Amino acid sequence: MKIINIVGARPQFIKYFPISRVIKHFNRQVDSGINDVLIHTGQHYDYNMSKIFFDGFGIKEPDYHLEVGSATHGEQTAEILKKTEAVLLEEKPDVVMVYGDTNSTLGGALAAAKLHMPVAHVEAGLRSFNKYMPEEINRILTDQVSTCLFCPSKHPVNQLETEGFAAGINNGELVTEKMLTRIGEQMKFDKNNPLVVNTGDVMYDVLLTTQEIAEKKSNIIDKLGLHEKEFGILTIHRPENTDNPEKFKEIVSFVNNVVGDKKIFFPMHPRTKKAYDDVNCTFADNIKIIDPVSYFDLIMLLKNSNLLLTDSGGMQKESYWLRVPCITLREETEWIETLESGWNILYRDYSGSHIPDLVGDKDSQGLLYGDGHAAEKIISLLIAGFAT
Ligand code: UD1
Repeated sequence: MKIINIVGARPQFIKYFPISRVIKHFNRQVDSGINDVLIHTGQHYDYNMSKIFFDGFGIKEPDYHLEVGSATHGEQTAEILKKTEAVLLEEKPDVVMVYGDTNSTLGGALAAAKLHMPVAHVEAGLRSFNKYMPEEINRILTDQVSTCLFCPSKHPVNQLETEGFAAGINNGELVTEKMLTRIGEQMKFDKNNPLVVNTGDVMYDVLLTTQEIAEKKSNIIDKLGLHEKEFGILTIHRPENTDNPEKFKEIVSFVNNVVGDKKIFFPMHPRTKKAYDDVNCTFADNIKIIDPVSYFDLIMLLKNSNLLLTDSGGMQKESYWLRVPCITLREETEWIETLESGWNILYRDYSGSHIPDLVGDKDSQGLLYGDGHAAEKIISLLIAGFAT
């Protein structure tokens, strides 16, 4: 079986890591003969937005680098579509795997679907119900052309059902190892009848398998002279926050107000850096702006912190898994289970002017997004369904 994996933006390098690891493992253990071909679209290209993740995780060099770089949404997506199509025609894969909700996800999925190749979407079914977000457009369209919709939890399975997709396998409950072969054998991989299944979240696989490595590889806590649970983390990169100066000012003022004199570290995304240079407001002096950091550094920072303020989807879940209270700097979130858990709150719903005392349900910790074996389930299903 030949799988083409398409990545291009920072979170996709992280999501591909457990998939690539499982493929290698399966090839060694049971000689499953999976040919893993990797395409990097080049959507992210700075060292600390791209290569730092390949180096950190030991991900192989991409087989194809499309070098699309930054552009308007239409131009970037079109370049990805065009260049991916050329690779797909040459490689003739059995399945094309895309991740999340970026322009690389949509461009890759469209290229494959137009060639009648099965598309497997990792992180399917998420919705913010805000079509002003480019990610929402990307998710909806990618799901519509996908053959296998791998959902990280039960909510997105239910959402897909309400949109007219077939009922999720196992009523949307997490699939178990035992069920995999039977489901795979029954799958027809019919584009007109896609498979919807709750496999759990690959980001949880990554967190569980790399914590020890992060402890060894990262020295950021010492480097920044930090003490456990005495500082917070801030990240902002969504266009709806950075590209509207009034909104950006509102966020800056909210953050300054909430954190008071607490020490905060802010690894700043390049988009945000440009917007911040142009906007007429400043973060308080105790909010230290640093360059974007590696996954391992970020996890060590988060784990040792006692507050997260973010508009990132991935970090809302990571803070939930690491039991760090999170204020989400958005009007809504796709990760509603984190709100329900009590560890996350939308900034509009937070009326206080000091650091909130969020303490969620510790018993449900870690269980809302699978059991840490999402990648194994995804690859097992593909083997059962596609291997000839
Ligand atoms: C993209 C994804 C978003 C994801 C995020 C993760 C889309 C529509 N958005 O947003 O879903 O959460 O990645 O980080 O696909 N830039 C650099 N260096 C880089 C990459 C980007 O300087 O290596 C700058 C460029 O000016 C670029 C801007 O950042 O125009 C935005 O980059 P882009 O990839 O378009 O969107 P992100 O905000 O990173």
